[in-house]
Amino acid sequence: MSKIINGKECAQILNTNLKNSIKQLKVKRKPKLIIIQIGNNLASNKYIKNKLKACDEVGIIGELKKFDENIDKNSLKLEIEKINKNLSIDGLIVQLPLPSHIDEKEITNFISPSKDVDGFNALTLGNIMLNNSKIYPATPLGILKLLEWKDIDLSGKNVVIIGRSNIVGKPLTNMLINKSATVTTCNTKTKNLKDICKKADILISAAGRANLVTKKFVNKNMTVIDVGANFVNGKYCGDVKFNEVSKIVKYITPVPGGVGPMTIACLLQNTFTLYKIKETNLK
Ligand code: GUN
Repeated sequence: MSKIINGKECAQILNTNLKNSIKQLKVKRKPKLIIIQIGNNLASNKYIKNKLKACDEVGIIGELKKFDENIDKNSLKLEIEKINKNLSIDGLIVQLPLPSHIDEKEITNFISPSKDVDGFNALTLGNIMLNNSKIYPATPLGILKLLEWKDIDLSGKNVVIIGRSNIVGKPLTNMLINKSATVTTCNTKTKNLKDICKKADILISAAGRANLVTKKFVNKNMTVIDVGANFVNGKYCGDVKFNEVSKIVKYITPVPGGVGPMTIACLLQNTFTLYKIKETNLK
């Protein structure tokens, strides 16, 4: 059995199942996702293109609303409010980063929780903490689905996360606690980081630092999940020194082809979840 956890393959399975579910819908209206982009950030252009392509592949209507870099906060909020109220729209993404004159927290909190496919809204995150949410941020959800796919049980396991971001580390910590894992959330300033990591059953690195996780951080029974998305000398890589770590551990995700494809697949899943909730409530 391969020790490489192939995120592309798992994402493809999820997308195919979703495509079939959408095809079989009895309701005429298709799920619809709006992406708001402010300005012309090159990385955002690429991410958005991938999201829209993925929507198209599964049968979700994906639409980009692009605004000028100089749009003021209130005009942006008016646009969001229109989408919040529109019953034919199921999901809204405001692509980050935003220009510096617009406060990201204020905007993500202005998106209605009923359209919050990113899971960045404070209410969504609070419900995750209380184990009472239907929506989970796409990257943590993708990680849980990868582990489930590989039958890697979480109950009672010692999980170490490196990274405490609002998008990955914090929600993932809560999601894992809710699965009865014992979770240690570290960051790059944590003392004795490698000794703490070395004792883990599952090590998840979401620090955004290339080559952080070396053979000194791991053990032979470990599952390593690499959430890093770094560019070093023009080359895309994760946080883990894959060549040396993969020789030791039991399971490992590659970069690219590990967590990345799962993030988009889970955004689509979230859009469909919110669509189903809306359609059920309308009945
Ligand atoms: N920018 C980079 N990744 C993301 C994401 O997952 N959601 C949003 N809204 N912006 C991003």
